[in-house]
Amino acid sequence: MRDTLTILGIESSCDDTAAAVVRGGETGGTILSSVVSGQTELHAAFGGVVPEIAARAHAEKLDLCVEEALERAGVGLDALDAIAVTAGPGLIGGVLSGVMCARAIAAATGLPLVGVNHLAGHALTPRLTDGLRFPYLMLLVSGGHCQFLIAEGPDRFTRLGGTIDDAPGEAFDKTAKLLGLPQPGGPVVEAEAQSGDPKRFAFPRPLLDRPGCDMSFSGLKTALLRTRDAVVAEKGGLGRQDRADLCAGFQAAVTDVLRERSRRALARYLETAPAEPAFAVAGGVAANGPIRAALQALSAELGVRFVAPPLALCTDNAAMIAWAGLERLRAGEKPAPFVARPRWPLDDRSPALLGSGRKGAKA
Ligand code: KG4
Ligand code: ZN
Repeated sequence: MRDTLTILGIESSCDDTAAAVVRGGETGGTILSSVVSGQTELHAAFGGVVPEIAARAHAEKLDLCVEEALERAGVGLDALDAIAVTAGPGLIGGVLSGVMCARAIAAATGLPLVGVNHLAGHALTPRLTDGLRFPYLMLLVSGGHCQFLIAEGPDRFTRLGGTIDDAPGEAFDKTAKLLGLPQPGGPVVEAEAQSGDPKRFAFPRPLLDRPGCDMSFSGLKTALLRTRDAVVAEKGGLGRQDRADLCAGFQAAVTDVLRERSRRALARYLETAPAEPAFAVAGGVAANGPIRAALQALSAELGVRFVAPPLALCTDNAAMIAWAGLERLRAGEKPAPFVARPRWPLDDRSPALLGSGRKGAKA
């Protein structure tokens, strides 16, 4: 195998169509290009991602994204060593669009094709951005994912726990909706919370009294709804300060749950005596200032390196898919036939619970 590999990555498992070119070798990788085309406005009227609309939009955009990624990278198809494509988990119509596009390019060029697990893409990103050494602890926390993983190798992950219902980003989005704020809810709720009192309303910290690393966020949403209704019943409406206090209380509860569950996951990870202890977060919710600060402070307290890749690489993108494919090829794996999978837990010994994440779209 060549020392340096140049890989085209393709991602279409949810509502972002993405293509990227990554070049890398023994010591790390470089993103030559990363194109992400979102679909937010297509789904805005429906209050969530509509799978059929997403799949059609992916099919329309994929070849354009690939063309743009190659052009921006300044490479032709002949400069590539392989193609890596998200083969799941995700909305199956979208995954199939990407896989078919990748198969067509592979058939036309004779390039090897690697089917990548989308979650592995997120989980391996800190190696691309910060050169983390295995094993490290990973918290994936977005609108579709919430799980703790110990990353032990390009294709070896141990899942310590995750949400048993909603993902935190989904809870942020629902909170915004319940308070009449725009989508996506996370950044707006965070901004409102800045002028709010997190102590005025007592929100639950679900599951924190139980052992293990599982989490639950759907009760929090119900608590918010009830509290909102109580305020409206008492005052006849929701004032600016009420809204800010509700956001602050909600965000404080999510922060506490993530911090305390991370503490437990870190304790379990540290039992394995890693040579270079590190804790990495990825996903849209990792953009939240107070949540990121809490996880960073916890890591400092426990003497663990804290890594949060830049936001553009924390959220869905194809550079992480190209990189995951590159890691597997570098580890000596021979590309093998694969199928598109709507569900695909990273750790078969600890399968994800059905229904977790945004509409159960991501395992
Ligand atoms: O990783 P991502 O772009 O997509 C997937 O869900 O896969 O994450 C988007 C989610 C949304 O639910 C959004 O509300 C949330 O991340 N989010 C945030 C913040 N920014 C984005 N949640 C809390 N605070 C933020 N600042
Ligand atoms: Zn994702």
